[in-house]
This record gives sequence, C-alpha cells and structure tokens, in this order.
Amino acid sequence: MKVLGIETSCDETGVAVYDDQLGLLGHELYSQVALHAVYGGVVPELASRDHVRKAAPLIDSLLQRIEVAPEGLDAIAYTAGPGLVGALMVGAMLGRSLAYGLGIPAVEVHHMEGHLLAPMLEDQRPTFPFLALLVSGGHTMLVRVEAVGDYQVLGESLDDAVGEAFDKTAKMLGLPYPGGPELAKLALTGDPSRYSFPRPMVDRPGLDFSFSGLKTFALNTLAKSAATSQDKADIARAFEEAVVDTLFIKARRALQETGLGSLVVAGGVGANQRLRDKLDTLDAAVFYPRPAFCTDNGAMIAYAGMQRLLAGNAMGLAVAVHPRWSLEGLGR
Ligand code: KG4
Ligand code: ZN
Repeated sequence: MKVLGIETSCDETGVAVYDDQLGLLGHELYSQVALHAVYGGVVPELASRDHVRKAAPLIDSLLQRIEVAPEGLDAIAYTAGPGLVGALMVGAMLGRSLAYGLGIPAVEVHHMEGHLLAPMLEDQRPTFPFLALLVSGGHTMLVRVEAVGDYQVLGESLDDAVGEAFDKTAKMLGLPYPGGPELAKLALTGDPSRYSFPRPMVDRPGLDFSFSGLKTFALNTLAKSAATSQDKADIARAFEEAVVDTLFIKARRALQETGLGSLVVAGGVGANQRLRDKLDTLDAAVFYPRPAFCTDNGAMIAYAGMQRLLAGNAMGLAVAVHPRWSLEGLGR
C-alpha cells in the first residue's frame, strides 16, 4: 500500500510517498524561508498562497522521480492541524480533491503525531511504550506514548514553545529568521562561563515548561552589555545552555516518574546538536529522526497517515482542518 503524505501546516511544503512493504519511497521539501525572511517571521497569508503555488508541482516532480503513477497511490494523508488555518486548508483541499479524483481514501494527520512518529522512519526505531520530547516552533511537550494514537501529555509549555523562544531570542540578537539554527551557530563561538541564565521551573514539581522568561532574561542581559558580537555570542551560548539543561532535567524527571526506558526526541529543535549531546547522556535509549525529519516534512505525515489508515481512520469527503487540536484522544 502506497500513501502520499502532504504537509502544509506552516512554512514548508513537504510531500512524500510511504509504502507499507518498502518503506519511504521518496520525499520532497520546498521551504518558504526566503519568502518570510524579509518580514522576520511567517506571514500566514503569504504562506497559504505559496503552498497553493508549490504543492501540486512538488507532488508531480516527486511521483515522476520515484516512478509512481498517481493511479499507483492507494491513499492520501494530509496535515489537518494544528497549524495556520489557511495553510492547512491548502493541503486539505489538495489532498481531498486528489483522493476524490483518484477514487482512493484520504486521511487527516495530526502534525504532532507526525513529529512523534518520525523516528519510525529510521533504521534505529523505538518500541512502544516510550517517552516523547516534542520540541518544535509551536509546541513543547513531554508525552507518554503507549501505542500509535494512545498519547498522554505529561507536561507542556505554559507560554512560548521552545523553538519560538529560540526564534525570538535570535531576532533580538539581530539574527535572520528562522533563528533557531542561526542562534545555535552563533553559540559555538560563545563563552559558556560568562553568563548564567536561569533554568525555569526546574525547582517546582511537575513536567511543565516556561520559556518566555528566558527570552526576557536574554533581552535584559543584552541591554546591559555593549552589544558587541562577542557579547551576543556569549548570550546565545548561555541561552542555549539554559534551554538544553531545562529540557534535559524535565526529560530525566519524566523518565524517572514513568519508569520508561526509551526517549524519542522530535520536532525542529530536535535538530539542535547541543541538545542531542546532552540527552545522549541520559540513562535511557534515545531516538531521533534524521535532522531533515526533525523539522517539518512530508515523510512523517505519509508514515503517520499509513498508521491511521491501518487503524481504519479514512474519512468521507468533508474537508475540515483543526488549527488547534489536542494530541490526546486521537484514539488507536
Ligand atoms: O518542527 P518545526 O520544523 O516546525 C514546527 O512545527 O513548528 O520546528 C521549527 C522550529 C523553529 O523554531 C526553528 O528555529 C527550530 O525549530 N530549530 C532549531 C534548530 N533547527 C530548527 N532550534 C535550535 N537549534 C536548531 N539546530
Ligand atoms: Zn512541525
């Protein structure tokens, strides 16, 4: 069975075909980064319009490259939320219309379920149950994963998502959008002993996060400095250390509290090398998707879609999207 996956929830158009026998047949990604960079962040209406322009040709070029005819597809999976409503609508309309035209089922995919199942695309895959640390631009969550569709959110950010905190702090430091990877690069030349940033909420019980104070701490530190390029690198380093340490402490606590022995790290911030190095020191088996599948992509949607179809979740013709969508209660 071959499933075409379509991802259009934010600023990347991702498409992929996953085969339940052969695995991932291919994937393509078109990033809108250059389009939004001049505005310093994602402009939702521009994102929707660019998905309209790029999604169908991207599917064409993928299918040609992997030599799969549209008629050779068995189902279509698309991200139905959470995300930007206009951007989601583009993928949903395209997915549903294609499925209708080809006479095959279409299935909605929860974007965060896509992220947390992304390590299943690798040779080293976790077995259920496991703990997932989801760290993206829109979400920060610790999730107990019992099986596909059986998720319990143990903790999440009460304010900014971790990727969002990276992006906002990077912007403050004068780095281009999207700031996460840029800040990580700048931090490489920073002195870790110069500034010490707080580790928010670690001395309170529980598994929730808060990152907006860290961003303000960075702003105040910058204002008190001469704002030289070395000052900025030192601030970037202190910020990154604080974020990584906070995520590490909460992940370790969640492993202890649940007794789970494996951890999956997914979402854009999962590409961060300092975070990976630190989490690798945990007393647990740690699984990551390859960096290209940490950030938004079509492969994780095709894979999660396949699981949804196997669970019998294909739907009728109604096109609905869920800009806000709880990960809990999806059902197996
Ligand atoms: O998962 P993702 O591609 O999109 C969402 O679903 O939000 O995550 C994007 C986020 C952005 O905030 C970006 O700055 C961050 O992931 N990011 C990173 C790195 N690569 C991407 N943050 C820190 N270090 C990185 N290497
Ligand atoms: Zn994402």
